[in-house]
Amino acid sequence: MEDWVNSYFDQDYLWTLLNKDDPHRNIKQVKFVVSETGVSRDSWILDLGCGYGRHQEIFFQYSYKVVGIDFNRQYLLKAREKNNSKDRKMDLVQSDMRKLPIQNNTFDLVALFFTSFGYFTEEDDAKTLLEIKQVLKKGGYLFLDMENRDHIIRYFKTDEIREYPYFTLLERHRFDIHTGIQHTRRIYYYNNNEKKEVHRELRLYSFTEMKRLLEETGFMVDKVFGDYNGTIFNLESTRMLILAKNVN
Ligand SMILES: C[S@@+](CC[C@H](N)C(=O)[O-])C[C@H]1O[C@@H](n2cnc3c(N)ncnc32)[C@H](O)[C@@H]1O
Repeated sequence: MEDWVNSYFDQDYLWTLLNKDDPHRNIKQVKFVVSETGVSRDSWILDLGCGYGRHQEIFFQYSYKVVGIDFNRQYLLKAREKNNSKDRKMDLVQSDMRKLPIQNNTFDLVALFFTSFGYFTEEDDAKTLLEIKQVLKKGGYLFLDMENRDHIIRYFKTDEIREYPYFTLLERHRFDIHTGIQHTRRIYYYNNNEKKEVHRELRLYSFTEMKRLLEETGFMVDKVFGDYNGTIFNLESTRMLILAKNVN
């Protein structure tokens, strides 16, 4: 695992996600993916990089057959704690997405919500797509909810500050044009005057790069949108929502 991943995705990161959690938004996002892929309740769905399961739990509540995978045990425990019914338990698996402990041809849909792709070297990003392809049925869908690189570069923000009940968070971004990696320093200023710094390396793919990478790994881009309203993808889109099919 990349060094930064373990320290970046910690309890404080989880807290920032939980703090802005919005079940209505999660439901809307899940409904959008269901409607664009046409998955039915007989379909098997994989929420990859599921975090604390905020999308998985919606699929689960709507009686879809869904599995959540994340490498972070603490996040999976939180998902379990939030959905702790005696009768039905969510399927949660702790694993690195580059080596999935799943039989080939299992899923009809693999979904990576909210920037869960682009954390590795280009070779490992490609390896992740090949791994996803293995566990997808032929004709199955891959859904990627990514940042729109061209929008980020166009309106590049070096600093962002957000207030939370227990800390103030400063994010300092730098983009390396040679590697395509956005380096983010995330500095937590706690209310008790303590401070912690972690960092993230996110490879930002343009749509054309991503399309090529998908084609090279056996996918065909079916649709791309700029947000969960189904808006056309363009330079003003903050997100890049890609629906790709496993074609061969
Ligand atoms: C930006 S968060 C998004 C979480 C979730 N999809 C959501 O929308 O709340 C990215 C997630 O990817 C997970 N992750 C990072 N690297 C991973 C890896 N190599 N294998 C599996 N999960 C990974 C992190 O633990 C984190 O939960």
